[in-house]
Amino acid sequence: MNSLTLTRPDDWHLHLRDGAMLQAVIGHTAARFRRAIVMPNLTPPVTRTEQALAYRARIVAALPADTDFEPLMTLYLTDQTSREDIEQAAGSGAVTAVKLYPAGATTNSAAGVTAIERTYAALETMAEHGIPLLVHGEVTAPDIDVFDRERVFIERVLAPLSERFKTLKIVFEHVTTRDAVEFVRAARPGIAATITPQHIRCNRNALFAGGLRPHHFCLPVLKAETHRQAVLDAATSGNPRFFLGTDSAPHSRASKESDCGCAGIYSAHAGIELYAETFEAAGQLDRLEDFASHFGADFYGLPRNTGTITLQRKPWRVPARYEINGEQLVPFMAGEDIAWTLQA
Ligand code: NCD
Ligand code: ZN
Repeated sequence: MNSLTLTRPDDWHLHLRDGAMLQAVIGHTAARFRRAIVMPNLTPPVTRTEQALAYRARIVAALPADTDFEPLMTLYLTDQTSREDIEQAAGSGAVTAVKLYPAGATTNSAAGVTAIERTYAALETMAEHGIPLLVHGEVTAPDIDVFDRERVFIERVLAPLSERFKTLKIVFEHVTTRDAVEFVRAARPGIAATITPQHIRCNRNALFAGGLRPHHFCLPVLKAETHRQAVLDAATSGNPRFFLGTDSAPHSRASKESDCGCAGIYSAHAGIELYAETFEAAGQLDRLEDFASHFGADFYGLPRNTGTITLQRKPWRVPARYEINGEQLVPFMAGEDIAWTLQA
């Protein structure tokens, strides 16, 4: 097979940032995806509906002229998020989901949730209105090993939460462990997970290949090979609980190559091609369309897309960097070849 036509896919986990970075990255996503769930971890975070509407307008203004790309907006959950905040979000029709960042878990999460009990009123209201909770699933307790944070989050937070709010839809974002995929497989209805390209392609050795590799640093951090294999198996299993979310997370080169480098891997430049290559290597290319274009929309209760994209089996070289307003952005697979090319 030298050409692959898919229903236009959606990206169910994306960081677009703002200003010059937004302007520079949005075209990559819009060329590939019809919709994307846009994460709210700006500074300051998008905690209220007015902010989400204003951010949506800035995204739409940054879009290339000839696109029908649609940003799906999210709110950033805090200890202070009230019933009224959720009712306003539901009433606006412009907020698709709410994101839980445990305080201190990742980039711009300082304003996140300090204790899950503080969000119960908001979660109850979300369940009433059918608004999904998107979860960054890592505990932040300093005594927990960084590689165990996801597993411990399931035990301490996610499993009890999913039982307490039985009708709340939950997406366990960017799962990275065997524990997480096993949890999602066995969970009650209404629980799903997104999977990134890096977590099905790389294990934690990539962080230390010949030296320290900041461009492979993201959160949750890459895991051991057994976990990578389990997450890849889930992505390619045909189970509708697992769907595409790139977690493309651009940071400038200077802020990655630093003595305290930011977490985040930029992958929107090849946001579907990376998955195509990996699914093919796993012998499961025929399962890509469900994962990339069907299961996420079905979970969110949104219509499947009607258009298509076509990939050609033709290698292309990922640039070493993109220049953005005097800064640089180093993409995932910089300087390497990817086997599938998006047809213009
Ligand atoms: C994300 C970012 O940079 O905003 N970073 C990351 O490593 N994935 C935040 C997140 O999704 O955790
Ligand atoms: Zn993210």
